[in-house]
Amino acid sequence: MKSIPRIRRMSLSPPRDGGYYARHIFFCLNERKPGEDSCARHNAQAGFAHCKARVKAEGLAGPGRVRVNKAGCLDRCAGGPVAVVYPEAVWYSFVDEADIDEIVESHLKKGEVVERLLLPPDVGR
Ligand code: FES
Repeated sequence: MKSIPRIRRMSLSPPRDGGYYARHIFFCLNERKPGEDSCARHNAQAGFAHCKARVKAEGLAGPGRVRVNKAGCLDRCAGGPVAVVYPEAVWYSFVDEADIDEIVESHLKKGEVVERLLLPPDVGR
């Protein structure tokens, strides 16, 4: 049985625990050498750009709220493209803009994990 991460619901107000953002999402945009699979070969850049635009359009961006960042290889390439949301440390594998929209609307905005997009815990490089 797949274990689902437990999350605490967080409002998008400045964190009281010394954090700067309420939520921080990192997108792997890495491209591995020829012959090796990587997030960059599965439209990671488009997912990142769409997320950044959606977060801005929704008024979620900024200190105490949400930050969208690029990342290098997160060493979970076999599930790519991947993104991870902190502070909950929830990992996602996405396919298209609709997936990103759901992550923004459910997780980044409301703190609700999008279970259908969870990266299985055993997926590595
Ligand atoms: S290339 Fe994206 S996790 Fe490694």
